[in-house]
Amino acid sequence: MTNRPQVLRTVAALRRAMAPYRKADIALVPTMGALHAGHLKLVTEAKKRARRVVVSIFVNPTQFAPTEDFGSYPRTLEADMKALTALKVDAVWAPTAAAMYPEGFATRVAPEGAALAGLEDKFRPHFFGGVATVVTKLFTQVQPDFALFGQKDYQQLCVVTQMASDLDLGVKVVGIPTVREKDGLAMSSRNVYLSEAERAVAPTLYRVLKASAQRIKRGEPIEMVMEEGAGEIRHAGFALDYLEARHALSLKPIASVKDGPIRLLVAAKIGKTRLIDNLGV
Ligand code: PAJ
Repeated sequence: MTNRPQVLRTVAALRRAMAPYRKADIALVPTMGALHAGHLKLVTEAKKRARRVVVSIFVNPTQFAPTEDFGSYPRTLEADMKALTALKVDAVWAPTAAAMYPEGFATRVAPEGAALAGLEDKFRPHFFGGVATVVTKLFTQVQPDFALFGQKDYQQLCVVTQMASDLDLGVKVVGIPTVREKDGLAMSSRNVYLSEAERAVAPTLYRVLKASAQRIKRGEPIEMVMEEGAGEIRHAGFALDYLEARHALSLKPIASVKDGPIRLLVAAKIGKTRLIDNLGV
């Protein structure tokens, strides 16, 4: 019988559990649960890099605006535990909200740089402050050698990488390529919100990213390719937040391939569900 990972709910319990792990390398995979194959890929990559693997599961209230889906965000702890048991994860850090944000909590990490690129931050202004604060806490709680993040949330990966370096958190942040469904749709915990009809058009985002990357590579003007891509996404029924070509490291706007590497990033709503995706050129 395979052992279930130990589940830790308080900072004190986590500290006790981590002490013997520190003899070896520790990798952390931060998540909000509702685990799918994308998250599990981060776990298998973590296992290749460190002897001990810790997965955190915490639906972080501070990165959701009051109008967003914190209340209805999928919570599937039993299924998550089964998947993590099968992958032989050592420990699951699943703090209670009171353990993470005790009464009177009054400190926030305020990332700049990539966090102010005018992409996700423009539509979710609260988001990166919440992510940076909770990820800083996760890093100081677990003190991992490595932390694995998905390229799926590309701006988040840039922000966390910069933050770990700026604050000397001693964690090497590793980005892992996006895991996709067969039709190209990036796996996401929010895909369960899609109706059958919405699910059918959802792969448009990746299709447009792929076609746009090819056209830019062939030398077509970036601005025109982005405009036509935006039109195609809207025509499929999305409300488009952005489709943009940015420098892959700084996330600054970019006018030509010679100033690259380029990353294409998209966010759009289909019905009530907001999807994001991105691709390198
Ligand atoms: P969550 O959305 O649960 O994602 C956890 C990690 O899984 C993130 O690093 C994300 O980029 C990665 N991920 C999600 N879908 C993926 C896919 N299809 N392929 C590869 N990786 C994928 O991102 C968060 O949680 C939170 O903001 C968090 C960092 C945990 C802070 O609260």
